[in-house]
Amino acid sequence: MFQNLKPPTVDAIIALMAKVQADDRADKIDLSVGIYKDDQGNTPVMKAISKAEDQLHAEQSTKKYVGLVGDVVFNQEMTKLVLGEDAPLNLVGAAQAPGGSGALRLLSELIYAASPDCTIWLSDPTWPNHNSLLGSVGLNIEVYPYFDYDTQDVLFDEMCATLSKAKKNDVVVLHGCCHNPTGRDLSLDQWKKLGKFLAEKELVPLIDLAYLGFGDGLEEDIKGLRALVAQVPTSLIAVSCSKNFGVYRDRVGCSIVLSNSQDIAKTCQGHLGASARRIYSMPPDHGAAVVRTILTDAALTTLWKDELTEMRGRVNSLRAEFAKQLRELTGTNRWDFIANQRGMFTLLGLDDNEIAQLRDDYAIYVVKGGRINIAGLQLNDIPKLAEALVSITK
Ligand code: LMR
Repeated sequence: MFQNLKPPTVDAIIALMAKVQADDRADKIDLSVGIYKDDQGNTPVMKAISKAEDQLHAEQSTKKYVGLVGDVVFNQEMTKLVLGEDAPLNLVGAAQAPGGSGALRLLSELIYAASPDCTIWLSDPTWPNHNSLLGSVGLNIEVYPYFDYDTQDVLFDEMCATLSKAKKNDVVVLHGCCHNPTGRDLSLDQWKKLGKFLAEKELVPLIDLAYLGFGDGLEEDIKGLRALVAQVPTSLIAVSCSKNFGVYRDRVGCSIVLSNSQDIAKTCQGHLGASARRIYSMPPDHGAAVVRTILTDAALTTLWKDELTEMRGRVNSLRAEFAKQLRELTGTNRWDFIANQRGMFTLLGLDDNEIAQLRDDYAIYVVKGGRINIAGLQLNDIPKLAEALVSITK
């Protein structure tokens, strides 16, 4: 049966992770997958998570099934984190999902159920897995211009010009904050303008929110999303807890549908649950129960926010230091954008040749296009990285 089966196309980031692992050079620098590392190069379990796990362990009396849409309190807490304490919970359909990717998948199933002919519009560039996660449901994929490599700015006018060709009910995928891979977000004014534009064109936003709190702060990072969803009748939001709660392997995420109709919200939630049943039956409980424990306990919430502030501070100071060393080395401001971008990633705009040089000559691993995971950088690595970058881009 499987004799003629060809090996699968492996996602670019996953393939790179394997290459890093296979490299036995002691001084290799891994800037591939988006995980946070501390000053010692570890990705620690956050203290708030450990405490919540202890509490859960002491309190939990059963492992019986939770349900198709998972932990209802977790879903409500996620909704409040995204839409604010006064979120209109009666207008929301939500389902716990296995990670932000699972949340995207459930939402793409929902889109397909409602409108199989619709097109999903992705930013160029975007997270490589968006295409397969959303497209493999059977939906048509197109791209809109997003990023100008020369100016390091968002191509807002070009983005709207392309999206004006979209048809009614097409879905526009946006990055809620800390755009992956560019680190360049829409300004608040652009979020507002885009909300108006989507409403006029009757397009539906699907907002991937995977890095909340990694930019400028929990409230600062979410302002744009809130301004946009206030203007459109329906918004789809895929939330990930992987990075901001550091629960990568536990797979914690939430699909949120915000509607202007209670009935639609309820029907959509039913579909999210039905899709979960069809694909994996029910979401795993543990990680979401831990996050729910944190968000329903004031002291644990404060501890978590403090830890998130520390992680964000570290990432932003690494950005500043990297840009500073590049300024000193080159005597130019060519790389200053690194300090101004936000989130885990920076896009250095390298070609395949330059990326191969970094790998072969310096044991430095970066994703296609020159995306580097700033959050995985060590202070000690910066001089080597800066010198290598200057030498290959001369
Ligand atoms: C990334 O872009 O590196 C992260 O979102 C992790 C992943 O699964 O690709």
